[in-house]
Amino acid sequence: MTVTIVVGGHFGDEGKGKVISYLALHDKPDIVVRAGVGPNAGHRVYRDGKAYGLRMIPCGFVNDKSRLLVGAGVLIDTSRFLEEVDMTGTRGRIMLDKRCGIIEEGHKEQDRSNKHLSKGVGTTGSGCGPANAERAHRTIKLAKDIPELKDYITDVPQEINDALNKNKNILVESSQGFGLSLFYGTYPYVTSKDTTASMALADIGLGPTKVKDVIVIYKAYTTRVGGGSMEVVDEENIGNYPLWQDVLENAKKKGIKGNSVNEILSSYLNELGTVTGRTRRVGNFDFSLAKYSAMVNGATQIGITCIDKLFPECYRVKNYEELSEGAKRHIKEIEEKVGVRVSLISTGPEAWDMIDLR
Ligand code: GTP
Ligand code: IMP
Ligand code: MG
Repeated sequence: MTVTIVVGGHFGDEGKGKVISYLALHDKPDIVVRAGVGPNAGHRVYRDGKAYGLRMIPCGFVNDKSRLLVGAGVLIDTSRFLEEVDMTGTRGRIMLDKRCGIIEEGHKEQDRSNKHLSKGVGTTGSGCGPANAERAHRTIKLAKDIPELKDYITDVPQEINDALNKNKNILVESSQGFGLSLFYGTYPYVTSKDTTASMALADIGLGPTKVKDVIVIYKAYTTRVGGGSMEVVDEENIGNYPLWQDVLENAKKKGIKGNSVNEILSSYLNELGTVTGRTRRVGNFDFSLAKYSAMVNGATQIGITCIDKLFPECYRVKNYEELSEGAKRHIKEIEEKVGVRVSLISTGPEAWDMIDLR
């Protein structure tokens, strides 16, 4: 019986979806349960070479033996949810908690028309903030009240706690990242809820005594989309980073152009938002945020993604020994500065592009 939680350690888009897709196929959890805010998330995963951009369905769908659940803390966009059920062919094994809050058209309109939200905070426009505000006002609709969802309604806490009593394994999939937490992030440039492992447990109705591992995911560098400060790599500071000088050189060799160093780097690293298509700003790995986030999350392990983007020679490498010296040094530095073991290293976007040191 194990419970493993996967959370984001920087500003979201760390590649949690990719890591979940690997864990779902490799560890074969009986249940994959989605926690987190709602359809503001965009996880990109691959199954049999085909890419999926998922906002509602757990990325664990790639294992067709896993039961898929969505916890009560997660907001549901009904039409998006039903579209993804069709797209992934998961009808019959995906269920929602009856208490999930429902995002309505008005929430999305408000998210997009309110200047503070759309221009200031730079939200995803998915209606999550206004829906969570409505939930706090206690006027939101719940999933159990929506006729189109009637075939998908369950009691998630009951299901997962019963499964644990039967020695089954559970993988908890969170969304967003620590820096976007309503409590601990860069307020007011944050999402509408906490994003830590503790919140993920509350989202799905599971007590903290049941958890074996908290895997905090970081990209090999830091990215951020939307408002809020972040130290980027730019014209002024790139001289301090030999690693980034190499990356810029590679980008230029590929003929990539842009109005600034950061634009060239984002474009070379293909850092475009899954939900909104916005360009993600790119920075050097933020060690202090990573360390603080590992502490608050109670991290037992770290997963590093996109190592192949900084070190292209590592693309799809499956053994630690085959990583380049530069990549090994980078991973060691993260491990030492954050103070938690790096157990998963992702070397490409597809599920099996993974070095598993667990
Ligand atoms: P949120 O829930 O929105 O925070 O997203 P996420 O953490 O699931 O990440 P998302 O899928 O939005 O962004 C990660 C991007 O990196 C996706 O395009 C992935 O396909 C890609 N990716 C993840 N891991 C790797 C990797 O190791 N190498 C490469 N090349 N791409 C990766
Ligand atoms: P909201 O969650 O749509 O209200 O957006 C609030 C802030 O969180 C904005 O800066 C968004 O860009 C950011 N954000 C929300 N969800 C994600 C995500 O899944 N990945 C990355 N950034 C996100
Ligand atoms: Mg994303």
